[in-house]
Amino acid sequence: MKKNTFLISLFVLGTVLVSSCTNDSSDDLSGIDGLDEVTYTNTVKSIIDNHCISCHAATPINGAPMSLTTYENVKQAVLERGLLNRISRPQGAEGMMPNGGTRLPQAVIDQVSAWANQGLIE
Ligand code: HEC
Repeated sequence: MKKNTFLISLFVLGTVLVSSCTNDSSDDLSGIDGLDEVTYTNTVKSIIDNHCISCHAATPINGAPMSLTTYENVKQAVLERGLLNRISRPQGAEGMMPNGGTRLPQAVIDQVSAWANQGLIE
């Protein structure tokens, strides 16, 4: 009886350990798998922070008409202000963003474009 209890405990413990490991690794993996999923938080925010908010600040400066500091701001700019079109214009074209600066690398533009195609996930 004692031996059975011990074996049952081992079995239960083993099950708990195995299932918690499974849970842990699937949590970890979702980050890795999630590389294809472009979200505002994992990708787009840092792109905008690095290239746009020097003008499109919380209080926009240098003539920029709107802020791009929040998810809602950026989403709205994609939907209503042609953000993708602006960053996709050729270097030096009128209205290209960043205004008066260097066109973003194509890979970066592609990420923003993928974000839009995937439904502008926050
Ligand atoms: C040096 C300042 C500056 C930077 C940096 C800058 N912008 Fe702008 N942006 C402006 C100005 C000024 C305007 C208004 C003139 C115009 O529409 O071309 C503008 C307009 C826009 C518009 C059109 C808004 C509308 O309502 O028509 C979008 C979209 C935009 N910017 C996105 C961006 C994005 C995305 C970035 C970063 C990749 C960026 N901008 C970087 C100054 C800047």
